[in-house]
Amino acid sequence: MQTQKSTEVILALDVESRTQAEKIVQAAGENLKWIKIGLQTYLRDGPAFVSDLASEGKKIFLDLKLHDIPNTMAKAIESLAHLPVSMLTIHASAGTEALARCSETIIEALPEATLLAVTVLTSMDAENLNRMGVMNTPEDQVTKLAKLATEAGVGGIVCSPKELSSLYDALPSGVSFVTPGIRPAGTDLGDQKRVMTPAEAAQAGANYLVIGRPILGAENPDKVIAQIQEEVSSSQPSFLS
Ligand code: C5P
Repeated sequence: MQTQKSTEVILALDVESRTQAEKIVQAAGENLKWIKIGLQTYLRDGPAFVSDLASEGKKIFLDLKLHDIPNTMAKAIESLAHLPVSMLTIHASAGTEALARCSETIIEALPEATLLAVTVLTSMDAENLNRMGVMNTPEDQVTKLAKLATEAGVGGIVCSPKELSSLYDALPSGVSFVTPGIRPAGTDLGDQKRVMTPAEAAQAGANYLVIGRPILGAENPDKVIAQIQEEVSSSQPSFLS
């Protein structure tokens, strides 16, 4: 069981242009400590934007969700060497050898970063999994992949907050839990299916909440971030106190 007690908010900066990204970061102000750069933004704005955000004091979660043969994944991580990145994602379903190779490679290439394994995307439910030939429930599939990943040396898991209680039982201590699929009460789900509110996710033991559209679409992103931070700080899990 891990011991970090506070839950931090990460903004998923999935927007249409660099100008729009800069505007939102500006509007979010000091409340915003963590930014997730996903494929939409990274492929458009590149490593220079990552460095620029880091030089403004933001911590960067680079969500590239790498999934390929082990050598290609390890070489991709080497290509990121020295970028100011604090978290990086790969897909757990790439398998044990890829997970182990990436865990070793990141120590040299990005010594400050935590490698995270994405388990089952939060846009997938049991029916989607079954159609792909995966007959496990999302919860069992997430546990299976999370175990593979942590046994191979990966430091954190990306999953829905709904799976946290099983993972706390199944995984060793020290693993970080990063949860997308967060929707403040009354907000639109979009394509997300396995969701919880910020308070519920914090209560379930999430270390980091990844939130995009509910903040990006707000008139005052800084206020929404502050409200979410307030909500999570009064909802820490009793089993960690
Ligand atoms: O806008 P929304 O809050 O749904 O954004 C969620 C973010 O988390 C997106 O950037 C998405 O790529 C990412 N993500 C996810 N589910 C995962 C892993 C990452 O939604 N399993």
